[in-house]
Amino acid sequence: MQLEWRDGDMPYSTAFGDHFYCQTDGRLECGHVFLNGNGLPERWRGRQSFLIGELGFGTGLNFCETWRQWKLVREAGSTLHFVSFELFPMRGDDIDRALAHWPEIDAERKALVAAWPDPASGTASLELDGQTRLSVVCGPAFEGVAASSEVFDAWYLDGFAPSRNGDMWSAELMQLVHDRTREGGSFATYAAAGFVRRNLQAAGFAVERRKGFAGKREMLCGLKPASEA
Ligand SMILES: C[S@@+](CC[C@H](N)C(=O)[O-])C[C@H]1O[C@@H](n2cnc3c(N)ncnc32)[C@H](O)[C@@H]1O
Repeated sequence: MQLEWRDGDMPYSTAFGDHFYCQTDGRLECGHVFLNGNGLPERWRGRQSFLIGELGFGTGLNFCETWRQWKLVREAGSTLHFVSFELFPMRGDDIDRALAHWPEIDAERKALVAAWPDPASGTASLELDGQTRLSVVCGPAFEGVAASSEVFDAWYLDGFAPSRNGDMWSAELMQLVHDRTREGGSFATYAAAGFVRRNLQAAGFAVERRKGFAGKREMLCGLKPASEA
């Protein structure tokens, strides 16, 4: 993927004409949109294992911030598996450059970069600590999710802007995401585009509009309702 650096450490995709995260503060955006939008960290309480799926690993910022928050609250013996689907895995030194912006996730960045396989291909499986596993499934998200037999508790939908990265928000992919979500499971995204909301609703999610991060009017999150017996 063609990558450009703006303001020193802000990655920008020239292929998609978009930043990887908001320019205000991508780490705080992650907390507001992806963690809170999925009811985390509260939903981790009392769970032996928890499975998060992400569309678009990018720099791993969402993963590192999630791992940081997970370490603060996790219970002994519980495990988090974070599975991310990524078409253009970045190089370790680019991940390092982007994430060095946040001293709050220094420890997570260093551990991620030390374990990162360069070049990442196939499925990169990283056992990062006794309670945290990361899998990055390289290739088109549609193929990766279709091939997955996992049932996810929560999804982070983080493709580039829907207007420029239609594959990451298609009705077919949103249906697959829904099909691989447990009943009562959730999704969250910074996106608010009408066609994304309609695709998620058509797939079967109960969709809620919430206030977006840093002045963004809206974001979307929602639940997979329990099916009627
Ligand atoms: C907004 S960025 C993700 C940011 C990331 N979550 C982070 O924490 O840095 C979108 C990502 O989606 C990836 N992507 C775009 N189209 C894709 C596709 N069809 N399948 C899988 N990944 C795709 C891009 O390569 C990019 O890394």
